[in-house]
Amino acid sequence: MKINTTTLAKDFIKENVKNGDVVIDATMGRGNDTLFLKQLVGKDGFVYAFDIQEEAIQSTKNKLIENNLYNNISLILDGHQNIDKYIKENNISCVVFNFGYLPKANHNIATKPHTSILAIEKSLQILKIKGIISLCVYQGGDTGFEEKDAILNFVKTLDYNKYTVIVSDFFNRPNYPPIHIKIIKES
Ligand SMILES: C[S@@+](CC[C@H](N)C(=O)[O-])C[C@H]1O[C@@H](n2cnc3c(N)ncnc32)[C@H](O)[C@@H]1O
Repeated sequence: MKINTTTLAKDFIKENVKNGDVVIDATMGRGNDTLFLKQLVGKDGFVYAFDIQEEAIQSTKNKLIENNLYNNISLILDGHQNIDKYIKENNISCVVFNFGYLPKANHNIATKPHTSILAIEKSLQILKIKGIISLCVYQGGDTGFEEKDAILNFVKTLDYNKYTVIVSDFFNRPNYPPIHIKIIKES
């Protein structure tokens, strides 16, 4: 399979998440990333996952049960901008964002620039040193460019002494493929 945004994100997450870690899926959707994270942190690790749609919670819960991995996990029906209401620890090793809308559902219920940036800001606060944030950001089509531009503008402002930010863009591919952003908390 050719490299794409999903493979980039998975490789980055796999390199940085280990057994026993506490991690967050900030956009649960159909639960693919939640399941992937749970497989990496194992039975002693903990996964918090957020979505604003009940349908996402149900899909994800079913996926975890099918895989016998529905333990040490909290599926939260609320926006990721409220992450600090639920998570009081600051030892988080990874936060995963896969922006946009729930596949096979209403495309109008999607992440929004203002709340996405608030959620990234709050995530940075609770990451441990060498913790990471993985961001898959869509553009073009239904999504437009507003969220991608806002997120890029925001991550550009992060202090380079504290955070490393790497942006991957499939530069010669047509139809505006999603981009991937890696953030590493350095100090
Ligand atoms: C592209 S999907 C995520 C895909 C998912 N990670 C998976 O593995 O299937 C984006 C999800 O973000 C959710 N979402 C939109 N706004 C949100 C918010 N403020 N907080 C949390 N989730 C949100 C949508 O409901 C949708 O399910």
